[in-house]
Amino acid sequence: MFWSSALVLGLTHLCLSTPLTSKRLDTDDLLEKHSWAEVPRGWEWVNKPDPESIIQLRIGLKQDRVDELISSLYEVSTPNHNRYGKHLSKEEVDVLVAPHPDSVEAVESWLLHHGVDPTDATFRSSSGSWISVLVSVSKAEQMLGTEYGLYHHPQSSSYVVRTLSYSLPRELHQAISVVSPTTYFGTLRSMRATSFVEADISDQVADISATVPSSCASRITIACLQALYNTSGYIPSATDSNSLGVVGYLGEYANRNDLQTFLTRYRTDAVGTAFETITVNNGEDDQSEPGVEANLDIQYTVGLSYPTPNIYYSTGGSPPFNPDSETITDTNEPYLDWLNYILANDTIPQTFTTSYGDDEQTVPYDYAVSVCNLFAELGARGSTVFFSSGDSGVGGGDCLMNDGTNTTLFQPAFPASVTAVGGTTGNSPEVGVSFSGGGFSRYFGIPSYQADVVAGYVSSLGSEYSGLYNTSGRAYPDLAAQGTSFSVIVGGQTYSVGGTSASSPTMAGIFTLLNDYRLANNQSSLGFINPLIYANSGGFNDITSGSNPGCDTNGFTAVTGWDPVTGLGTPDFVKLQAIVRA
Ligand SMILES: *[C@@H]1O[C@H](CO)[C@@H](O)[C@H](O)[C@H]1NC(C)=O
Ligand SMILES: *[C@@H]1O[C@H](CO)[C@@H](O)[C@H](O)[C@H]1NC(C)=O
Ligand SMILES: *[C@@H]1O[C@H](CO)[C@@H](O)[C@H](O)[C@H]1NC(C)=O
Ligand SMILES: *[C@@H]1O[C@H](CO)[C@@H](O)[C@H](O)[C@H]1NC(C)=O
Ligand SMILES: *[C@@H]1O[C@H](CO)[C@@H](O)[C@H](O)[C@H]1NC(C)=O
Repeated sequence: MFWSSALVLGLTHLCLSTPLTSKRLDTDDLLEKHSWAEVPRGWEWVNKPDPESIIQLRIGLKQDRVDELISSLYEVSTPNHNRYGKHLSKEEVDVLVAPHPDSVEAVESWLLHHGVDPTDATFRSSSGSWISVLVSVSKAEQMLGTEYGLYHHPQSSSYVVRTLSYSLPRELHQAISVVSPTTYFGTLRSMRATSFVEADISDQVADISATVPSSCASRITIACLQALYNTSGYIPSATDSNSLGVVGYLGEYANRNDLQTFLTRYRTDAVGTAFETITVNNGEDDQSEPGVEANLDIQYTVGLSYPTPNIYYSTGGSPPFNPDSETITDTNEPYLDWLNYILANDTIPQTFTTSYGDDEQTVPYDYAVSVCNLFAELGARGSTVFFSSGDSGVGGGDCLMNDGTNTTLFQPAFPASVTAVGGTTGNSPEVGVSFSGGGFSRYFGIPSYQADVVAGYVSSLGSEYSGLYNTSGRAYPDLAAQGTSFSVIVGGQTYSVGGTSASSPTMAGIFTLLNDYRLANNQSSLGFINPLIYANSGGFNDITSGSNPGCDTNGFTAVTGWDPVTGLGTPDFVKLQAIVRA
């Protein structure tokens, strides 16, 4: 994602001068790890949870050689480097992210001190850097010097058990990067800006067309995207090894019958093709409840990448309470749980798309860095990971900071920045769509691959918006694709759906074809593409108009070259084929 110098800080090796004593693990030597100045916006305290109820505590240990992981990631992802394309195996990555033995020992002593047997862990990543244990709320409160509360988010009707601050014994700050669930509330939302039922138009748009059908001005279908992005006529052949993963959250189910209806209308040669559904973390697959987001994603990834196998990951929240508890309905640790699940597999899809995100400021910094490092593992292993850039332009609502100051600042999205896809609309020419999320991270510094083009844009802004955004932050989006008026079948009816939720699966479909092209030629998958695309912006149609208003401003404006509305632009598959084979 942001993979930048901020993450490459060498980790100080642990050197515990004296053995940990009970006292030093106890509650009288606690040092704050993270706290919020106020209850996260949109959430309300409900009550104190039953102290005897059980939560699953996920402990992220400091990864001893994570700086080497990041440098390996860059080497295998930078064209012309002698390691380009030589992705790491799961075992090789595990060596780099393993915690120092002193950290493991310190954490295990701490657990034992609190009567938690580390061998009872419900999850332990193969590298040893993540441990999950079941503890009662009162035990967790003791360990973390905190008080948990049950909080309600009326807008999404979700309930979570979280705290406003937590602490760790002083010694353990060197051993532990993050503990959750604690202060990350997770206001995860689907990046679906608009969706409404469309008159059920019976005319069918012809498959596989080289020119953009005129109907694409008002409704986007597979044929429109194939023509716009130049994929018409490409037939994938590496389908025994290549695959595309769609990551779903929030009880969104991808419906199999709706996919067939969609294919019958918009991709007739693919009728009968199926996708696999993998449920993660008690995720479900209720075929009577088709999700707009899930159907949008899977219909467009299958429609563009057919006959490449597609997998839909239905990721459930991990209820932290015993399932018999009636009070808790939703306690997501979405990225952590999905990432730890997928990274445990020896074989992983070469391309992923996720259409969900949060405001960066709602994600505690340590949590964001830990998640970012897990995405770095995926990239190092050869997967290309797309996220929607968000649907609020430079920021939704009043854009007040949550640090107690109430300053108005542009609000960057998280984790929009692995490879972030913004939105466009129209086709002659394509223009940046007003909701396209874009901006500059305040957590992650600017990576070298984009430093030049971003500096160019920032200097063209001059003093405009000065102070509202971070001139030295990781800038996004990286790319863009159509984001309005996608025809999606939901429950047999045609809906018109818009949002960068549509743009990310579109990009994933096209890069799946590019991965196919490389695999079919005995080359590796593309993996983390940012160094490649910034060095080859000629593979994209530069989008030079449109803007992304927000925070009571006009937002940024799309210009020639990179901009924080449409990134480098929209893909031209034919040109990209030449680039990725080089
Ligand atoms: C498709 O690729 C061809 C060959 O590079 C190029 O001439 C044409 O402009 C591209 N069309 C679109 C719509 O991108
Ligand atoms: C690993 O990935 C493969 C291919 O994506 C999938 O079929 C399999 O179910 C996964 N294994 C596990 C344990 O999740
Ligand atoms: C910040 O703004 C919120 C919402 O408008 C308000 O409830 C809160 O009191 C303000 N805090 C400060 C420190 O001004
Ligand atoms: C801008 O980003 C850098 C790099 O992450 C960070 O160190 C700095 O604090 C950020 N500045 C602001 C004003 O947020
Ligand atoms: C790829 O490798 C296989 C097995 O080594 C070989 O049969 C095939 O001809 C190669 N294909 C290309 C395009 O190089």
